[in-house]
Amino acid sequence: MNIILMGLPGAGKGTQAERIVEEFQIPHVSTGDMFRAAVKNETKLGLEAKSYMDQGLLVPDEITIGIVRERLGNDDCKNGFLLDGFPRTVPQAEALTETLKEMGQSIDHVINIQVSRDVLIQRLTGRWICPVCGSSYHTLFHPPKEAGICDKDGGKLYQRDDDKSEVVTQRLDVNIAQAQPLIDYYAQQGLLRNIDGEQEIDAVFAEIASILRG
Ligand code: AP5
Ligand code: ZN
Repeated sequence: MNIILMGLPGAGKGTQAERIVEEFQIPHVSTGDMFRAAVKNETKLGLEAKSYMDQGLLVPDEITIGIVRERLGNDDCKNGFLLDGFPRTVPQAEALTETLKEMGQSIDHVINIQVSRDVLIQRLTGRWICPVCGSSYHTLFHPPKEAGICDKDGGKLYQRDDDKSEVVTQRLDVNIAQAQPLIDYYAQQGLLRNIDGEQEIDAVFAEIASILRG
């Protein structure tokens, strides 16, 4: 099963992706995670990506498309994948369609998680992440059992640089500007399913899972 998970920053893509990949046993392909790994390893890609990410801007299409093409070519994507945070622009979506065509594949589901701007700001500024397993927590909405510590592995939680309130506003605006044409692109193909992302985390997952199980 080939799935795209769409939604504005903070909509809950990463939170739901964790559950989807576990339930459906497919690899999680997150461009945000790939860029953050490159930043951490101080690669050329990382240095370039960081200059955009720190300002809440999108990394240029040609770079982003390149890393996704490479990733989808890996063996573990042969039996399905979950794309999280890609595509984010119409040129990225067109490049993806083309790449999948070359691979003899196509997208089965596009899940769009919808959340209002005010709620997104609240979610992003309260988010804490585990450096060990990447799990996302929220000080109010999804607190760990012990403050500052990951439930799964005891990792010491940290806040992302681009979750600072000055950057959050810019990130939201940049992504909102790209969102509608992308939604239209997949709606025209009859693939788009909108989900109310302002429900409890488990309720959002239940809706997604029921769509994916068909
Ligand atoms: P990326 O890492 O993809 O960030 P993003 O899109 O800004 O999304 P987030 O990871 O911030 O949010 P999320 O939707 O995963 O929410 P989460 O589940 O954590 O990208 C980072 C940067 O990389 C971009 O800004 C850009 O520079 C670059 N980039 C990446 N992809 C790119 C592309 N394709 N093209 C160009 N550039 C690209 O949830 C948020 C919080 O809310 C958490 O604390 C969580 O616990 C909580 N929460 C989740 N669900 C709920 C719920 N239902 N109720 C209450 N709280 C909830
Ligand atoms: Zn962890």
